Amino acid sequence: MKIFGICASPRNNTTEYVLKNALGKLESHNFQTEIFTCMGKDIKPCMHCDYCLENKKCIIDDDMAVVYEGLQSADGIILATPIQSGGISSNLASIMDRTRALEAIDYNLLRGKIGMSIAVGGDRTGGQDFAHLKNITYFMIHGIIPVSGGPFGSNLGASFWSNDSIDDIKEDSYGMDSLDRTLHEFENFLNKYI
Ligand SMILES: Cc1cc2nc3c(=O)[nH]c(=O)nc-3n(C[C@H](O)[C@H](O)[C@H](O)COP(=O)(O)O)c2cc1C
Repeated sequence: MKIFGICASPRNNTTEYVLKNALGKLESHNFQTEIFTCMGKDIKPCMHCDYCLENKKCIIDDDMAVVYEGLQSADGIILATPIQSGGISSNLASIMDRTRALEAIDYNLLRGKIGMSIAVGGDRTGGQDFAHLKNITYFMIHGIIPVSGGPFGSNLGASFWSNDSIDDIKEDSYGMDSLDRTLHEFENFLNKYI
């Protein structure tokens, strides 16, 4: 089974560290993984031109092409976002809006895939839950089944406190526990429903 992980930070740092950790664990359990990182990529915001509704594809020619392919070919999708202004990053918001072009082709294109959320904040309570809720809402809109890591800190997904530092996020054992619990459920769902 294939897992597509999106690192929605504009740089390669703490969110990428966590996502790569997650994908490495999945690979050790024989999942095939692919990572897309937003750093240096050209992903323009949706212009609401409605070209996709008529033509079944987005009029913008940029790096979103890789994301369209990754989302469609995956069995499981991981959205990993840094917290920006109390929620998801602007990169991820653009990706979500641009997925409208897939809905235009077929409303059921992503239906039945499994989704999990990773949120990395500079602060301990900087908006991780709001980011998870946005990711889960996106999953639901597209028929993707969202997983919870269960109670005790991972209700909505994996939540990290980075203190804006790779060294500090490595010390966030509570965050890593939330990742492991969410991955456990993610794998359970993949094995049960795919
Ligand atoms: C524009 C901007 C807004 C941010 N807003 C928040 C915030 O509201 N809450 C928070 O906890 N951290 C906030 N941060 C900090 C980042 O979430 C934090 O440094 C995170 O580890 C960055 O992930 P990265 O290292 O993968 O880029 C913000 C950072 C930026 C650049």
